[in-house]
Amino acid sequence: MSLAELFDLRERTVLVTGAASGLGLAVAETMLEAGACTVLADADEVALAGEVERLRALHPLAEGLVLDVSHADAVDAAVDGIVVRHGGLDCVFANAGISAGRGFVVEAGQLENIDLAHWSHVLRINLDGVMATVRAAARHMKPRRAGRIVVTSSIAGMRAEPLSGYAYVTSKAAVNNLVRQAAMELAPYNVLVNAIAPGPFATGINGGRLRLPESAERMRTHIPLGRIADTSEIKGLALLLASSASSYMTGAIIPVDGGASAR
Ligand SMILES: NC(=O)c1ccc[n+]([C@@H]2O[C@H](COP(=O)([O-])OP(=O)(O)OC[C@H]3O[C@@H](n4cnc5c(N)ncnc54)[C@H](O)[C@@H]3O)[C@@H](O)[C@H]2O)c1
Repeated sequence: MSLAELFDLRERTVLVTGAASGLGLAVAETMLEAGACTVLADADEVALAGEVERLRALHPLAEGLVLDVSHADAVDAAVDGIVVRHGGLDCVFANAGISAGRGFVVEAGQLENIDLAHWSHVLRINLDGVMATVRAAARHMKPRRAGRIVVTSSIAGMRAEPLSGYAYVTSKAAVNNLVRQAAMELAPYNVLVNAIAPGPFATGINGGRLRLPESAERMRTHIPLGRIADTSEIKGLALLLASSASSYMTGAIIPVDGGASAR
């Protein structure tokens, strides 16, 4: 296979959840640029419609789908619908996720102030939503004996992270083992399951706090590369994990973090 063929996604169908903003949008753009028919799914109907309209002017294979990943039945129906419309589903990015607010560096983030309803809400999207998406993808990919599943985790799931809320770090640690477990089950079926573990990227998460100059200043000291990442810096790994170029990779949790997890 030539180098161009290794990264070619023409004739592939890809689903990206949380695709109306930030990392999911950058992943969807990557898939479209590599030639894949790309379904952008998001719970935010208005933002999704705007982005899909913009992208369709450049890539006719962009499709929008309103979907809340915390509703497992809706996720199953979405995947079934894509399979019927497009004749299959080759790659799924389980990317949708939310912040849980600040960690124990502020009083509101300390154990005695944890609101359990809020804890459950975050886990319902960041963990249950990922499980629903991985499950729906596997149901379809396993019998076909082919497929790629990519979960957006976080370096906050790899170790304690005082700046991030309990529900967030817990959900991300949990999805890391979900990825490893699913990778083991699905390896004999040639369905590869991996996670991207981003460091800080300037996206809409947490009300866009990481886009603020004070965040940039704080990260200068926390991140070896000395800056917050641009969303385009997720594209290379997203393309690798969706393409034939990663055919021997499964069960991996791969940081894209400016060196933060190497410390
Ligand atoms: N930005 C970072 O620094 C960073 C770091 C590590 C991990 N992540 C992870 O990256 C992923 C994407 O986040 P982002 O930073 O691009 O944030 P973002 O807020 O820019 O984008 C997240 C998107 O997910 C959508 N979404 C939220 N809840 C949803 C639901 N229930 N169903 C469907 N869509 C839903 C939102 O509407 C939004 O469009 C998340 O899983 C996040 O935890 C982000």
